[in-house]
Amino acid sequence: MPEDESFIHHLLSQMTLEEKIGQLNLESPDLAFDPEMIRQGKVGALLNASGALTGQVTGQQGSVETVNHFQRLAQESRLKIPLLIGRDVIHGYRTIFPIPLAQAAAFDPAMSQAAAAVAAREATVEGIKWTFAPMLDIARDPRWGRIAEGNGEDPLLGSRLAEALVRGFQGKDMARPDKLVACAKHYVGYGAAEGGRDYESGEIAEPTLRDVYLPPFESAVRAGVGTVMSAFIDLNGVPATANRRLLTEVLRGEWGFEGFVVSDWESVAELIYHGVAGDRAHAAALALHAGVDMDMVSRAYLDTLAESVRQGRVPVAKIDEAVRRILRIKQRAGLFENPLTDPSRPARDLLTPSARQLARAFACQSMVLLKNEGDLLPLQGFRRILVAGPFVHARSELFGTWSPDGHAEDVTPLDEALRQVAPKGVSLRFAEYNDLALHLTHEADVVILLMGEHPIRSGENSNVSDLRLPPGQEEFIAAVAALGKPVVLVIFAGRPLAITRPVSQVQAVLYAWHPGIEGGAALGEVLFGLAAPGGRLPVTFPRATGQVPIYYNHKNSGRPLGRDGAFLTRYNDLISAPLFPFGYGLTYTTFAYASLRLSSDVLHDRLEVSAEVTNTGPRPGREVVQLYVRDLVGSLTRPVRELKDFQAVELQPGETRRVTFVLRPEQLAFTRADGTRGVEPGRFHVWIGPDSQRGLQGEFEYPFR
Ligand code: NOJ
Repeated sequence: MPEDESFIHHLLSQMTLEEKIGQLNLESPDLAFDPEMIRQGKVGALLNASGALTGQVTGQQGSVETVNHFQRLAQESRLKIPLLIGRDVIHGYRTIFPIPLAQAAAFDPAMSQAAAAVAAREATVEGIKWTFAPMLDIARDPRWGRIAEGNGEDPLLGSRLAEALVRGFQGKDMARPDKLVACAKHYVGYGAAEGGRDYESGEIAEPTLRDVYLPPFESAVRAGVGTVMSAFIDLNGVPATANRRLLTEVLRGEWGFEGFVVSDWESVAELIYHGVAGDRAHAAALALHAGVDMDMVSRAYLDTLAESVRQGRVPVAKIDEAVRRILRIKQRAGLFENPLTDPSRPARDLLTPSARQLARAFACQSMVLLKNEGDLLPLQGFRRILVAGPFVHARSELFGTWSPDGHAEDVTPLDEALRQVAPKGVSLRFAEYNDLALHLTHEADVVILLMGEHPIRSGENSNVSDLRLPPGQEEFIAAVAALGKPVVLVIFAGRPLAITRPVSQVQAVLYAWHPGIEGGAALGEVLFGLAAPGGRLPVTFPRATGQVPIYYNHKNSGRPLGRDGAFLTRYNDLISAPLFPFGYGLTYTTFAYASLRLSSDVLHDRLEVSAEVTNTGPRPGREVVQLYVRDLVGSLTRPVRELKDFQAVELQPGETRRVTFVLRPEQLAFTRADGTRGVEPGRFHVWIGPDSQRGLQGEFEYPFR
């Protein structure tokens, strides 16, 4: 990336203190905001500048004219510093892809990268140059609605996807007109909000923070992410927006992050509510000192920093440092050369056939087949099919949370999409969930139930205390199932739901998440066997809400199930195992694992671990082969399993392939009680398998050196 720090240096030397502070100020035109502020040099960046709102609001359209209007005002300011225009482009812009949690289920970083590239191309058409994505929060609690926006519970999968998404959004050169600046959020620990209540405080022990929550952010930094957003959370007693150790020492000192940090919405002024700042000036000084360069909409920087500098409470060098970082990203984004967006930029970039095709393939790849008794799916030989449930006519409901730029009219309604895909000779009938559905069940050969949660039930500030299906749905499923016809249960959701009872009552269960703009067609293709469900669970599925938190990489405890004795870790009223483990997912063929091989029983610099995987079923298929490790004895207790790598293989019926992984010592390192990180000598178990509970097991040693 061509870089000219002398340009930034020169610009900075011309700036007044007020102009510098203006660069640190992020405004949102949907709040009370006078555009004149831009001309006065009081605004560094805008979000929702296109005029469209975000959050849970859908169908708000932006326009390139509005964005260019604001950029022109910036060109009329004394130093003509362009604005950075931000927006929440989370899982697509006009072409809405499956929600991030669904994307994670595909275990396919290349596909995630391609989808992010489409989102960047589309968003930049309308003048957006900065997205508040990817969200990299590890989530172990599905009550928390924002689990929908992240990559699930695993640090390795989260890290691989972090890298892929940053590359997809930014490309090699984020100055290109079809690329934008990414923002790794919410740094850090936001997913650990107590009780699953968004914005709540949380506590994470240092080794867990280091080994579970931080790795995806470190990967994003390694991939060159331009910005990082500080989280709302009060973590271990220090609000993330005031955490100097994490924002400065770790992010910049240890990882070498060169971009800038933006606060989350008003999180600078919220330091007052947290009780670590007495007033806005105090809050601004704390956040700036911690390493937050840009204040998202609280105006605490704008209103107080100049006075704090004059009073000697904030050194101007601190402000210079933040301005430099912001200007550097504006420069890397090419904004000084090209502040305006070409309004005639061809409409061919929005909602192209190939983007739709990718959205459809991604939706198929992300759907997880959880149960398929008697190979009921794909549906074959059924003539009369009843499709029932609250999602039968779904359109924008398929988008999921954070899809402000998706248009309902771009979506083929689910019933119509199924009609288009269904084989000739099949009669499809539709009913929402009511008595009519029960009545029609009698006349059907098979019933497809489209159940689950509306997107408004997940995402920001949309938490639930009960992980079962929304009220009434379990009863409806039970009533249909009781009529004795084969039932395929399709669940649309933004989180793992506790579907224990319904799973036991139906023959097949397909978890479709919120599958995006092509969700209907994708579902049809999967149900009728034109495509296979490709997803594996990126998060553990609990049997009941009371099991939460439940995650696969937990510690063993002194009294694990399976050892002798009666006083073991468990509930009186529930078995301990999850309903479905991390990594789990069926498809339309089956796979067998055999012949685990280790290149040595001692790991020096590298160890090859391999196994034969055979497609033992009737159809071609894709298997996500997973490599897990357990460190048997450590100076701190170690997880019972940790995912260390995965590879997807496509196999024809009867085909066998040996899948080989390479393990290196650094993959076994962990953070110890004294804060140091390293591998400890001793014995390790290793598995190659289809999920976090099964697999072929081997053993090796990491020797004393
Ligand atoms: C608050 C959310 O926490 C964050 O994820 C989002 O990017 C900002 N609002 C801007 O909309």
